[in-house]
Amino acid sequence: MEKRKCGKSDTEISVVGIGCWSFGGGSDDYWGQQDQQAADEVVSAALDQGINYFDTAEGYNEGRSEESLGQALKDKRDKAIISTKISPSNTEPETLRQHCEDSLRRLGTDFIDIYYVHWPITDRSVQDAFATLMDLKAEGKIRSVSVSNFGVQQLREAIASGAQIDLNQICYNLLSRAIEVEIVPLCLEENIGIVPYMPLMQGLLTGKYRSIDEIPPNRRRTRHFQGDVAPARHDEPGAEELTFDIVEHLRQIAAEEEIAMAQLSLAWVMAKAGVTSVLVGARNRRQLEDNARSADLDLSRELIARLDDLTQPLLDALGPNADYWEPEASRRTR
Ligand SMILES: NC(=O)c1ccc[n+]([C@@H]2O[C@H](COP(=O)([O-])OP(=O)(O)OC[C@H]3O[C@@H](n4cnc5c(N)ncnc54)[C@H](OP(=O)(O)O)[C@@H]3O)[C@@H](O)[C@H]2O)c1
Repeated sequence: MEKRKCGKSDTEISVVGIGCWSFGGGSDDYWGQQDQQAADEVVSAALDQGINYFDTAEGYNEGRSEESLGQALKDKRDKAIISTKISPSNTEPETLRQHCEDSLRRLGTDFIDIYYVHWPITDRSVQDAFATLMDLKAEGKIRSVSVSNFGVQQLREAIASGAQIDLNQICYNLLSRAIEVEIVPLCLEENIGIVPYMPLMQGLLTGKYRSIDEIPPNRRRTRHFQGDVAPARHDEPGAEELTFDIVEHLRQIAAEEEIAMAQLSLAWVMAKAGVTSVLVGARNRRQLEDNARSADLDLSRELIARLDDLTQPLLDALGPNADYWEPEASRRTR
């Protein structure tokens, strides 16, 4: 499997990365139950496919995702590049240090390869947070300082702190292209790699949902969908008809090309400028193996342009706000 360099660092990660948000999940969590055996299978199938990159966060299932990933990588730590994330509310220097130690313990490792700030810091000192991250890097506890969901203003602030920012992990898929407007150009200029999350739009881009009602409610919170239906947090009208019209066209194109829709969707993101590794969630070995095949696809320039043209009206409708959960006035990514 192809590996790509993480920004200015020497770390190389596979173009397909495994999102471990569902690991350690119980029945009340966002993704529902995922037992350790399934997590072990996903991790070992990933390693078999040449995937070396695994992403988690302290906030996923109250630390149980980190624990589950650590358990799945027991005795295999040297084969993996692990990223985890500090929540922005935990970025005061002493708290950050303590939370980094807690993540190390749950992961069962003595260093974190890539440490992301999960969302932009709004009510604490950005300078102090990044200075602490640089100290942790100098001490060998973390190997890369990276960010997630940062917009251009926030990226500039992080860079101004003096930290080397390697990656920006952010929502990017055929139906969510806002980052192309301002964020990708800045990342290209600054050599900050893009790590797209939700590349399958949490299942919608696999083609498995034929109508809005089939999508689990918590996967319908984004601005693609009507804002006045719980648990959405925005107040926008959404673009449901256009979204589903595009999904149906994608289904047809995938059939014409004889490619599974999930693989087509992943290969499109992988082909985009500035992308380092596409983070995709998998509940079991079968999904993992299906998704890993996308790395072997080399989409033609014509096909990529066709997919760009098809999805452009949705980018126009939802606009350049890269926070797909919050309306313009309260967007977190700026
Ligand atoms: N930084 C952030 O703020 C942030 C936010 C979101 C996600 N992330 C990261 O990005 C990772 C990926 O995003 P995501 O998990 O939200 O969304 P995703 O990768 O778009 O969707 C993953 C889900 O789609 C379904 N799926 C995957 N492959 C499939 C296949 N081949 N066929 C049918 N269904 C399939 C599975 O759920 P079901 O089988 O249950 O349908 C899977 O859990 C996360 O795990 C996390 O590490 C980061």
